[in-house]
Amino acid sequence: MKFQVPRGTFDVMPEKSAAWQALEAKARALSTGYGYAEIRTPIFEATELFLRGVGETTDIVSKEMYTFADRKGRSLTLRPEGTAGVMRALIEHGVAQAGRVHRLWYLGPMFRYDRPQAGRYRQFHQWGAECVGSDQPAADVEIILLLVDLLAGLGLGDLVVQLNSVGHPGCRPAYQEKLRDYLRPHLDTMCADCRARFEKNPLRVLDCKVPPDVAIAAGIPSILDSLCDACRTHFDLVQKGLAEQGVRFALDPKLVRGLDYYTRTAFEVHDPARGAQSALGGGGRYDGLIAELGGPGVPGVGFSAGLERILLALEERGLAPGAEGPKLYLARAGGEGVERAAQALLRELRARYSAVADLEPGRSLGAQFKQADRIGAVAAVILGEDELAQGQATVKDLRAGTQEKVARAELAAHLDRLLESLPRPENAR
Ligand code: HAM
Repeated sequence: MKFQVPRGTFDVMPEKSAAWQALEAKARALSTGYGYAEIRTPIFEATELFLRGVGETTDIVSKEMYTFADRKGRSLTLRPEGTAGVMRALIEHGVAQAGRVHRLWYLGPMFRYDRPQAGRYRQFHQWGAECVGSDQPAADVEIILLLVDLLAGLGLGDLVVQLNSVGHPGCRPAYQEKLRDYLRPHLDTMCADCRARFEKNPLRVLDCKVPPDVAIAAGIPSILDSLCDACRTHFDLVQKGLAEQGVRFALDPKLVRGLDYYTRTAFEVHDPARGAQSALGGGGRYDGLIAELGGPGVPGVGFSAGLERILLALEERGLAPGAEGPKLYLARAGGEGVERAAQALLRELRARYSAVADLEPGRSLGAQFKQADRIGAVAAVILGEDELAQGQATVKDLRAGTQEKVARAELAAHLDRLLESLPRPENAR
């Protein structure tokens, strides 16, 4: 029997992990720079949390959840997204309070049972940020800037933010009625899902991927014409803030997003070079979510971005950093004394650089250099009987082919200089 990864999942093999680490490190650094603190929540939650938070009529909840009963019969679900869990945590810890702003970020796996294809997986990873506690347009702008700055910093500066306002529970019902009036004559030709959505949540029709329904949705009245004054003013200020920061955005009145908790601002960032699965990230404001989950009436705004999709975009542009092997190889030739000293030296080197040595003692220097070559080491540190007796080590620059003897006291400074003089990889930033 041959085991394989479950459909829609993948292994990150060592050749790829450097690109993952670089992306995660940048997301962490930028989140910290924006004053966001990390929050970690479980990867499974009570199923009810997502039914209430994400919404029962969404595809995510109705078709894509990994739901199971635990041994005591409780219904649990592998998180399909991060926002609901983060809000649950804020409520549970009693820190979601009016007038208090929380800036939070998270990074981790999410699970959705969808048809796998390039850029769409059943286990995927999101970097997300949530700014909770402020209804100010400045919070929306800050959240969008955080996402845009990460992408621009990675070299993906050619992306456009798609922006919409989905109103709030005060002004949305009027729009939903307009939408029903528009859709009613088409009901017979619409898919079964959309006929159900028509009654419960007509905005979801805009999410439908079935071709005749996509054509019908193309002619819908714009939600932007139905916004109340407060939502309109908020939206104007968000646009003004983004324009002042030089963010390129395009209005898309059909952008409703696949989750029910949004109020006012909704946005996505797409990669124009990709057709399907082009959304690298998306988010919006969710002023009613915390109350819906049993907490106080505290507003919030956030986004999350798909790490796999960002990496695909980087790979397609030749911007993904390649794998890096150990920089140093310790070669040794001699008796037991050399062997012991070599093991001690290896440990010293490892405290400062990445270094390896042959696990098998007594192999020829030629064979050891071949290994050093194979792993792409930059330099070999060589310890023989002479070096040991004289308190030295030989350092061989494996790129230039030159070598010199260095006093042990000078070794660190010498290696620092050698490794620092390396040409930086082209895509390092
Ligand atoms: P979302 O639009 O469902 O929003 O997902 C955000 C991003 O996750 C997408 O833009 C995409 O890059 C990535 N993604 C989603 N599904 C998959 C998949 N099956 N395979 C690979 N990547 C995927 C949310 O999840 C919201 N929680 C965002 C948010 C945070 N809104 C407010 N705060």
